[in-house]
Amino acid sequence: MSERRWWKEAVIYQIYPRSFNDSDGDGIGDIKGVTEKLDYFKWLGVDALWLSPVYKSPNDDNGYDISDYYDIMDEFGTMEDMDNLIAEAKKRGIKIIMDMVFNHTSDEHPWFIESRKSKNNKYRDYYVWRDPVDGKEPNDMGSVFSGSAWQFDEKTGQYYLHVFSKKQPDLNWENEKVRKDIAKIVEFWLDKGVEGFRLDVIENIGKIPDDMIVANGPKLHDYIHELYEKGFDSLGTGKDIVTIGECWSANIDIATQYTAPENEELSMVFQFEHVSLDEQKGKAKWDTKPLDLLELKNVLFKWQLEHTKGWNTLFWDNHDLPRIVSHYGNDTTYRVESAKMFATLLHGMKGTPFIYQGEEIGMTNIKFDDISDYRDIETLNMYKERMEQGYEVEDIMKSIYIKSRDNGRTPMQWTSGKNGGFTTSNPWLGVNPNYRDINVESELADENSVLHHYKKLISLRKEEKAFVYGDFRPILVDDKEIVAYYRVYGKDKFLVICNFYGRDRIIEIADFDGTNVNVTEIISNYCDSSTELGKLKLRPYESAIYKIDSIVQ
Ligand code: GLC
Repeated sequence: MSERRWWKEAVIYQIYPRSFNDSDGDGIGDIKGVTEKLDYFKWLGVDALWLSPVYKSPNDDNGYDISDYYDIMDEFGTMEDMDNLIAEAKKRGIKIIMDMVFNHTSDEHPWFIESRKSKNNKYRDYYVWRDPVDGKEPNDMGSVFSGSAWQFDEKTGQYYLHVFSKKQPDLNWENEKVRKDIAKIVEFWLDKGVEGFRLDVIENIGKIPDDMIVANGPKLHDYIHELYEKGFDSLGTGKDIVTIGECWSANIDIATQYTAPENEELSMVFQFEHVSLDEQKGKAKWDTKPLDLLELKNVLFKWQLEHTKGWNTLFWDNHDLPRIVSHYGNDTTYRVESAKMFATLLHGMKGTPFIYQGEEIGMTNIKFDDISDYRDIETLNMYKERMEQGYEVEDIMKSIYIKSRDNGRTPMQWTSGKNGGFTTSNPWLGVNPNYRDINVESELADENSVLHHYKKLISLRKEEKAFVYGDFRPILVDDKEIVAYYRVYGKDKFLVICNFYGRDRIIEIADFDGTNVNVTEIISNYCDSSTELGKLKLRPYESAIYKIDSIVQ
């Protein structure tokens, strides 16, 4: 059995502060806004909050471009507000996990301001600078946000590397001084009492730009191990923290390398295989195809069964992804059923579940009519690039409706009042007009809401260790519409079964013959259970968890 750790038993909630709750009426969410909602998290039962970056930033990429790791972004408040949030959360037994962007800084970070001044500046080597080749970029490396990853800098006649926007220059991790300065940042935040880090695109820090290697460079694991020794291994100091790496290109071997305890690197990693199955291989994320459920099952089950030396993360949504009910589910007639089905499927599996703000009320994607209503740099750059390449506007907008990161970034819907109760003034990004029907206030009042379903799943995980440490045993693996598996832990046995589509199905399950076992429904997304002896009828998107007890003769 896997070793017991708090973060394996926890449910973690991700906050995108800009869109969460605006306490001071400037249209932008803030830290005080998070503190105001701590009792909501207590009620929901989550153990830790991961905050997307709150540090000083010119906001070219909404805080993922940091200009001061030791200070708070003006729109979000002050360091005092942050200290207060950590303290108030602690009082409620909730841990704070900080998002750390160590692959790059903002071009407005003092290190870069110095670095670009001259070739012999002492910070020159903090970043990746190269001479032009034949008067052009050093090579063909592309930026994730469109165009070249190299930006020419007039002052010194060299190019610097930016895998993301040109305002996010990449740090040079080969430079030991960079690594020392990063370790100091970790120490600073640990001293403040935070209990974990989510490490932004950490897989990129070992890059070898001259060989066009970005992720999984040869020194990557040495660098992470070094950070472990300098900060992440806080067990010895009594600070038992969690570390979660964002690793888009991790396969099972790579994930094992990061997370097998003996390697002393990270607690777990986010890998994105399951949420990228609507993308065409070798093409941009915008070029989508319909989901094949068998492929999804294959991927989910593979990670459950084969990633056994390390620990899994479990998630559908985050601030870079579309909303799961719109992405793989049904966000119209069966929005409530399908949102609950995704929650059941995920929370029943082995790993640490992450809930992204709004997912717990079944928030959906957004469709703004005009590109000027979008704010995400990735979306805007793609729009511009594809317009220049001659794409039709309708086609570009279609992919934006499916994949834009702004789908997950529209403000949190708290009430049916103005702006969904997010702000009293103009929100920085439009609120989804469906806030009148989909909001926390109305879901709190409705026992059958998506929100109450999440609360039940979270508490079930607390009560039944089978969902944390139990074996995972898939069944009906070839069924094209049903996802089903057992979790087994000692004498405890649970069946999780989900109808992924809108068609009625009747399923034969051996355990339901009523002779040797008692079957008890623990949770369902329909109010009236439809179990009959011998077979299970599943209505559209119906999902349930059953406890199977052997009858001792
Ligand atoms: C990660 C973040 C994303 C950001 C990028 C660059 O993928 O999740 O929001 O744009 O890194 O920091």
